[in-house]
Amino acid sequence: MGQVRVFDHPLIQHKLTILRDRRTGHKEFRELVEELAMLMAFEATSGLPVRSIDVATPLATAKGATIAGQEIAVVPILRAGLAMETGILRLMPTARVGHVGIYRDPSTLEPHTYYCKLPPDIGERQVLVVDPMLATGGSAVESVDLLKERGARTIRLMVLIAAPEGIRRLHAEHPDVDIYTAAVDERLDDHGYILPGLGDAGDRLYGTR
Ligand code: PRP
Ligand code: URA
Repeated sequence: MGQVRVFDHPLIQHKLTILRDRRTGHKEFRELVEELAMLMAFEATSGLPVRSIDVATPLATAKGATIAGQEIAVVPILRAGLAMETGILRLMPTARVGHVGIYRDPSTLEPHTYYCKLPPDIGERQVLVVDPMLATGGSAVESVDLLKERGARTIRLMVLIAAPEGIRRLHAEHPDVDIYTAAVDERLDDHGYILPGLGDAGDRLYGTR
């Protein structure tokens, strides 16, 4: 069964609290999502394998380390995942990026895919799918379905807030996918929004409501 890792670093929890606040405007909201994604990616990559190498300093040779093993592909779910992509690329500027466009129908809550463009070697990479919200889990399941159809084999999901309903659904359909999150909230409301959550992530990021 897939794991759920909750990142409880004080900086992550501090920034998440400001993000949730209804008074936080879209400029600060976007900056916080970027910062949170960067901090969470730092935590998520703490177990990456490294290989020892020598490096010539101006004075002598030092023992160093370089990242080894599978390379990473970051896959934001449009549109709210885009702000997370920006933060992660500050930490890993050479990571390849794929994009999956999915929106949730507001009445049925069913996911609808409208775009998918992935690096051609996606099957050889560790894939990190990013989206601020895991609510019903429909969008996450749809994106993992798409990624697997196109050959991805090692997939993780990183979200800022997860609902128990979404965790259960993703792990029921894709038990091999670990979830990284900054919080597991209480439940969904009647419209599929996470409680207490932070509202509509896309609208708060881009000021569209
Ligand atoms: C939001 C969010 C997730 C999805 C989560 O996107 O960014 O992708 O809802 O809900 P689910 O787990 O129930 O599928 P939305 O569909 O609002 O699209 P947007 O990013 O274009 O605003
Ligand atoms: N999508 C959001 O943006 N927020 C929620 O609470 C649920 C889905």
